Amino acid sequence: MKPLLIRQIFTMVKMPEKQHTLFERVGGEQAIAELIHDFYDRVLTDPGLKPFFKHTSIDKLRRMQHEFFSAALDGPITYTGRPLSHVHHGRGITKHHFALYVNHLLDTLRDCGINDQDVNEIIGRINTYADEITGDTGPTG
Ligand code: HEM
Repeated sequence: MKPLLIRQIFTMVKMPEKQHTLFERVGGEQAIAELIHDFYDRVLTDPGLKPFFKHTSIDKLRRMQHEFFSAALDGPITYTGRPLSHVHHGRGITKHHFALYVNHLLDTLRDCGINDQDVNEIIGRINTYADEITGDTGPTG
């Protein structure tokens, strides 16, 4: 077979590009650390959210959030915190508070320069936890 033909066959059967995880696409561990830092600065200064964290160790919270977000974005990190429904149960967190929180995340992701498609995917994943956080389990919610 002519070398040119062999090269053409190789080009045609080239392996598909390796799919990067969301964790990799946002920039890996360092980027997540910066993102969580920025995000919690916004959450903790929002008058509508701040009171919820009055008795919380912010260092531990940031550490747990770092793990949680890394794992939720398919990163190589395990979340070692408590189940979300357990942590948030009985705190009076409503859909309104959840919306404030997610809006801060949206602003943070956009300000970090993450592209719209990845931003939508991240927000979509985080929204799946809404019922666990607000304690809504019924269909009428
Ligand atoms: C999808 C959205 C949310 C996620 C993924 C999330 C995740 C987490 C995680 C991973 C922790 C640490 C758990 C641990 O220490 O074991 C935590 C703690 C906490 N979260 Fe959330 N959270 C969300 C929304 C909210 C909202 C909307 C509020 C309040 C309005 C809230 C209030 C708190 C508080 C007060 C703590 C600290 C509890 C403590 O002091 O032990 N979270 N959250």
